[in-house]
Amino acid sequence: MCGIVGYIGDENASDIVIDGLKRLEYRGYDSAGIALCTKDGMMVRKKKGRIKNLEDMIAGENLYGHLAIGHTRWATHGAPSDANAHPHCDRSGKIAVVHNGIVENFMQLKEWLISEHGVEFHSETDTEVIAQLIGIFYHGDFEDAVFQAVEKMQGAYGLGVICADEPGKLIAVRKDSPLIVGLGEGCNFIASDIPAILKHVRKIYLIENNETVVLTASSVKIYNAERREVHREVFNVTWDADAAEKEGYDHFMLKEIHEQPKGIRNTITRRMDEEGNIVLDGIRMTKEEIENFNKVYIVACGTAYHAGLIGKTVIEKLAGISVEVDVASEFRYRDPFVDENTLFIAISQSGETLDTLAALREAKRKGARILSVVNVVGSSVARESDDVFYTWAGPEIAVASTKAYTTQLVCMYLIGLYMGRAKGSLEDSVYRTYIEELLTVPEKIEEVLKQERQIADLAKKYYKRDNIFFIGRGMDAAVSYEGSLKLKEISYINSFAIAAGELKHGTIALIEDGTLVVSIAAQDRLFEKMLSNIQEVKARGADILALAKESNTAVERQADDVIYIPECMDEITPLISIVPLQILAYYIAKQRGCDIDKPKNLAKSVTVE
Ligand code: G6P
Repeated sequence: MCGIVGYIGDENASDIVIDGLKRLEYRGYDSAGIALCTKDGMMVRKKKGRIKNLEDMIAGENLYGHLAIGHTRWATHGAPSDANAHPHCDRSGKIAVVHNGIVENFMQLKEWLISEHGVEFHSETDTEVIAQLIGIFYHGDFEDAVFQAVEKMQGAYGLGVICADEPGKLIAVRKDSPLIVGLGEGCNFIASDIPAILKHVRKIYLIENNETVVLTASSVKIYNAERREVHREVFNVTWDADAAEKEGYDHFMLKEIHEQPKGIRNTITRRMDEEGNIVLDGIRMTKEEIENFNKVYIVACGTAYHAGLIGKTVIEKLAGISVEVDVASEFRYRDPFVDENTLFIAISQSGETLDTLAALREAKRKGARILSVVNVVGSSVARESDDVFYTWAGPEIAVASTKAYTTQLVCMYLIGLYMGRAKGSLEDSVYRTYIEELLTVPEKIEEVLKQERQIADLAKKYYKRDNIFFIGRGMDAAVSYEGSLKLKEISYINSFAIAAGELKHGTIALIEDGTLVVSIAAQDRLFEKMLSNIQEVKARGADILALAKESNTAVERQADDVIYIPECMDEITPLISIVPLQILAYYIAKQRGCDIDKPKNLAKSVTVE
């Protein structure tokens, strides 16, 4: 969702904050703004649209100061506009606030501020309510005013607050929205995500829920909700700042597609000893605990949910245990059947998706053991889990998830294999075959990446289509959901994916001359069945772009075009077959002139319900 950055120190705060915002733009980008304490008091500049618009707006101004907060927005309350952009100020103009999250009781607070204090509002946002609230409580003690305001607020918030009367102090608050503090030399930072400030610092404090942080240029104090100071260990960031740069690729998405062999290699090999045994760092489940689970629940959102669908097939097969998969926003309100014998697996790239986090808490409340599969180290989902299984994809910046997804899939296989072996239900030879096959996946993906040009040509052929369907069976159905999601989120083409066998129960009515049907027939076991489904849509006028293994050339009789993937065991095809679909979506979106890394209406990290 929204991104926030703040700086206090000797340098010019506005340059540092704007640079940080650019690195957070993937979190939201419908407006941006900055508030700066200058020698002439508080300066606020904000603009609808990308950060570039804000930069153009302030280009001729000499904005200079040592304390600033900035924000890049993904609208929740009120449309994207200059007025709704953050920062928001109180009526005195002394207090400025940036906010990521949603204040759920903002209407009540707003009515109270209007009726009891005659406050006039200038935006439709919940954030202005926070600024006005702090303003009402401010009588010379800035920290106390923030504490009092927060006590009245319900919902989720990561806040950065500054006060013109106290240009040496920056206050930040966290509840359910991500917030970190960066520790510099003679300067300190706040941000909603590490990449924003990684250029300047490597020492980080991970701020916990209901904590308030008071920063000066030379000190950082963290307080709990009872206003007692708490101690925090320093978290050292080991990954490279360059990993968050484009390195010559036109877009982060394309770079991240190409990084999949490396991410998968890291995710597998770092967890394997020389004998090919899986060593799950960060997982402390005992053999007895694994034996006692009678059900696995996988819960996630978006692309991570699609990884969960594959996880269901894989874990059921390898560990011989029943697995349910659900989208987090549904799970949390469904009173699901979860108890102390349930293993709950949360999958999340960011580790900050609010629905996933809330579902995790619900499962925890019901006694489940929580295992998370997360990419961002130290994120909220990771911290609230009993065991964490990190994907080693490296930072993923493009909104459309690619390398996080394939590394999540790898984790599903490793978890299934590990559990199957711990339970003794998996034969050693089967285990070895899977491991051998998994180890070949990176080079097979490299083979697929060599077809990039041919896939780009297919994109040129098909990019003007208004409707593109995706079909597949078994695990290919789950791959088709993900392929369709990739396409629609970055190209805005109307796309729909369905299990191929289910087509004839309704959806086939939509097939007409020229409808493109991307048909995933990657598993030998289901190949013949898929050929029948392809025939059904072809007979109704569809054009067919098929995906199959190299040996299954029979598909050419039905398909207009075919993308081949290297031979591999049926069970691991999803790791490979998704890659050409990612490339296809990328080049179709490119042909259509779309803003690939920052698609409209979307955000990378969804920290609101
Ligand atoms: C957003 C992103 C998706 C992502 C989903 C879940 O919708 O745009 O790419 O799959 O959130 O995010 P998570 O960080 O929990 O994997």
